Amino acid sequence: MKRVTVPAVRQRKGKEPLVMLTAYTVRMAQILDPHCDMLLVGDSLGQVIYGLPSTVPVTLDMMAAHGAAVVRGSYHAMVIVDMPFGSYEASPEKAFESAAWLLKQTGAAAVKLEGGAAMAPTVSFLSERGIPVMAHVGLTPQAVNALGGYGARGRSEAEAKKIVGDAQAVAAAGAFSIVIEGVMEPIAVEITSSVAIPTIGIGASAECDGQVLVTEDMLGMFERVPKFVKRYGDMAGYIGERAASYADEVRQRAFPGADQIYVPKS
Ligand code: KIV
Ligand code: NA
Repeated sequence: MKRVTVPAVRQRKGKEPLVMLTAYTVRMAQILDPHCDMLLVGDSLGQVIYGLPSTVPVTLDMMAAHGAAVVRGSYHAMVIVDMPFGSYEASPEKAFESAAWLLKQTGAAAVKLEGGAAMAPTVSFLSERGIPVMAHVGLTPQAVNALGGYGARGRSEAEAKKIVGDAQAVAAAGAFSIVIEGVMEPIAVEITSSVAIPTIGIGASAECDGQVLVTEDMLGMFERVPKFVKRYGDMAGYIGERAASYADEVRQRAFPGADQIYVPKS
């Protein structure tokens, strides 16, 4: 099956909603691929996979290793890899070097980076040189040290205006799509109606051109999740119950059973 392309994503603006989920591993990519237009190798893997306190310590090497695994596990969805903190902000040239290396290492089609107007020159530098860029505005987790937390953005009129301006700047700079995270709903509606590229919401609005969630959040792997996460399952409970069953059987010598052992032919 041919993979979803960047032009195909752009053409979905205002049409059938785009479906995106995060994936970090080959098996998860295989399971999610048939259901998704896009798979995002998010730097959320810092917390989800590695137990780091934020996405700030995530490295290019981590993104490359997980990005390659997700490309190997998918056939249909477009794979987008997050650029980690520190790999792109200093200059468009630095961003190009990091992004090109990521695409070479992984086989992914595009990168995502956080930031608005300040990153617009970088977005155009990459886009004009063959690297499709998904932008990310509103709550930008890599800026946690500056923002002071993960609360929703755009409560004041000034901040709302800034976020809309950020989205418009990266759209004008050539981003092929924008993630809008953790904003007051009317901001996401205004951005979606005023830019020509698809918006992907997370804690944003059902009017966005698509939606994304962190897969482990959506599956119920964590006790504490943001308000915008809908839990479609209780994976932590499921795994815990199976681990308890296995532990009981081991302790009672009920596992392995006759089917799970090798018996020599007599
Ligand atoms: O890192 C991530 O998973 C993300 C999505 C939540 C948009 O950036
Ligand atoms: Na991210």
